[in-house]
Amino acid sequence: MSFVIPTAEAMRDFGVRLAGLLRPGDLLVLSGDLGAGKTTLTQGIGDGLKVRGPITSPTFVIARVHPSLCGGPPLVHADAYRLGGFAELDDLDLDASVEESVTVVEWGEGLAEGLADARLEIHISRADLESDERLVHLRGSGDRWADMGGFR
Ligand SMILES: Nc1ncnc2c1ncn2[C@@H]1O[C@H](COP(=O)(O)OP(=O)(O)O)[C@@H](O)[C@H]1O
Ligand SMILES: [Mg+2]
Repeated sequence: MSFVIPTAEAMRDFGVRLAGLLRPGDLLVLSGDLGAGKTTLTQGIGDGLKVRGPITSPTFVIARVHPSLCGGPPLVHADAYRLGGFAELDDLDLDASVEESVTVVEWGEGLAEGLADARLEIHISRADLESDERLVHLRGSGDRWADMGGFR
């Protein structure tokens, strides 16, 4: 599934909509170049999940836990460059486990090893260098994402 997202605000709105699908144990893997909009999308997901912010680039930490403000799942926001592999997430001794959280990993291009089977991959790219427009491509793998609940 592909979506054209014209502005940063629209990217946040897209994240809010996407958050409506999410439940504990979900893993989202965000890829795309620096500045593509991975953190911006994560901010929208955080708004939609109603977790405590601010959500900022995880570049200088491995992962941050954003607790829910409404009794829902926390958001774990991780930077794959700092992480040896996805398996390490559970070894980090975060305040929340992967099973009870929604986990968003900002992944660089082409670092696809060590990932859980069931994941929603989200790739963001620029439409062209002159505009703010982004192309967002969603690809789910595993039973969990076989049916995206009618998401459009
Ligand atoms: N359509 C858009 N979608 C997402 N971000 C956009 C868009 N247009 C402009 N931007 C800007 O691009 C930057 C994206 O940065 P960021 O989300 O940190 O990217 P990444 O985490 O992929 O490195 C932000 O400054 C954001 O405001
Ligand atoms: Mg980022």
